[in-house]
Amino acid sequence: MARYHLTTFGCQMNEHDSERMAGMLESLGYSATEVQDEADLILFNTCSIRETADSRFVAHLGHARRIKRERSDVIVGVGGCWAQSVKDEVFTQFPFVDVAFGPGQVHRLAEFLASDSLTAQGYFEFEGFTGDLPASRNRPFQAWMQISVGCNCRCSYCIVPSTRGREVSRPFEALVEEARGLAAEGVREVTLLGQNVNSYGRDLRPERREFSELLAAIDAVDGIDRIRYTSPHPKDMREDVVRAHAVLPALCEHIHLPLQSGSTPILRAMRRTYDRERYLDRVQLIRSEIPDCALTTDIIVGFPGETEADFEQTLSLVEEVGFDGAFTFIFSPRRGTEAGEITQGLVPHEVKVARMERLVAAVQRGAQKRAQRFVGRTVEVLVEGTSRTDPDRLRGRSRHNKVVNFSGIAAPGMIVPVEITGATSQTLIGEMSLLALAAFG
Ligand code: SAH
Ligand code: SF4
Ligand code: F3S
Repeated sequence: MARYHLTTFGCQMNEHDSERMAGMLESLGYSATEVQDEADLILFNTCSIRETADSRFVAHLGHARRIKRERSDVIVGVGGCWAQSVKDEVFTQFPFVDVAFGPGQVHRLAEFLASDSLTAQGYFEFEGFTGDLPASRNRPFQAWMQISVGCNCRCSYCIVPSTRGREVSRPFEALVEEARGLAAEGVREVTLLGQNVNSYGRDLRPERREFSELLAAIDAVDGIDRIRYTSPHPKDMREDVVRAHAVLPALCEHIHLPLQSGSTPILRAMRRTYDRERYLDRVQLIRSEIPDCALTTDIIVGFPGETEADFEQTLSLVEEVGFDGAFTFIFSPRRGTEAGEITQGLVPHEVKVARMERLVAAVQRGAQKRAQRFVGRTVEVLVEGTSRTDPDRLRGRSRHNKVVNFSGIAAPGMIVPVEITGATSQTLIGEMSLLALAAFG
């Protein structure tokens, strides 16, 4: 039996796509191996969001080249966003690559493997959703659902619109059907994926659909206990979606709402199409409908032209909102993007690093403070496995998307009550509550 080795870089959409690549390969008779040196097919699912993503991948590719030198019949395949963004040069720069494909043509990998083609092939037009391919999931009780591909925004720093193309929504009924099928297989938690999930459905014909309708339809599926989604865009975050959190039992009390910057002029230069006030207004709306909702975000520091005063606007917004967590990034110029071309007002590297440190400290202070509200409460935890630091403890996630390490006895996939006894900025600590468990049963 032929074996494949798959390395995944990048975001949750790539993790989803990799599960589909794996599912497709397994349906072709391939089996997975953890050992790259033993694989007949060495695959990479790549990311290009920041320069570090590129360089990390290119180092991995060097290892594949060495393997290929020793075993020339090994097939090296490169999929995902990096492949898409260098499509014109991939085979000249890396002649040992046999097949390359963008995120919209994963299914062509199967065609390539089934053919007798000895020449390198590249596939880069959007042809179909990876979500339509069979999946090989890591955890039987959790699933990604790809609700759309692509992005119609033009954030000036971002490479994604050029790697994933224009936004296309998957048909409404197909998604509800998929959710039913997942529930029947034992999935309890679904995470809806898209670059801008809350613009879902606006392109559907003959009938437009709203993201909030999709949430309600999936909530109504028996067996789906938790729904998450990522990422919504502040410009499209409307009342109906926020209300949905208050009324749909399965929709979790967590919203990841990417900020990028707290300074209106920088948001304008980033082409985010909202300003500081609009963002704060969305936060207020969320907090008025769902007071306990966890809020997380993405922030970029050191965008070209960012002054100390702009950066302080970001810091003050972080302090004002009090996020439960944030992913923070140093601006990285990307090929083919508007901001990647800017030559004036560049922020020196040491300034970027110093701002990043101040930002991370502010985020952590806020998150640490916010996390204390859980201490003394009993929260529902979906068990994922054993704790990474202590094999005698269990690990799972609360509805607020907090990692919880706790003592108790439960199998992965169970939802159990845990009494929270301590909290850091990153994780909660607790004990499974037998009293509450009895009340559950
Ligand atoms: N579509 C999603 C995710 C985009 S990528 C969204 O809009 O939220 C995830 C995060 O990477 C972005 O939110 C942004 O904070 C960061 N990012 C994107 N391009 C970047 C760049 N060129 N430099 C630094 N960070 C970047
Ligand atoms: Fe990139 Fe902006 Fe689209 Fe997100 S919304 S994928 S940051 S262009
Ligand atoms: Fe994701 Fe990276 Fe592409 S973040 S969308 S895999 S560029």
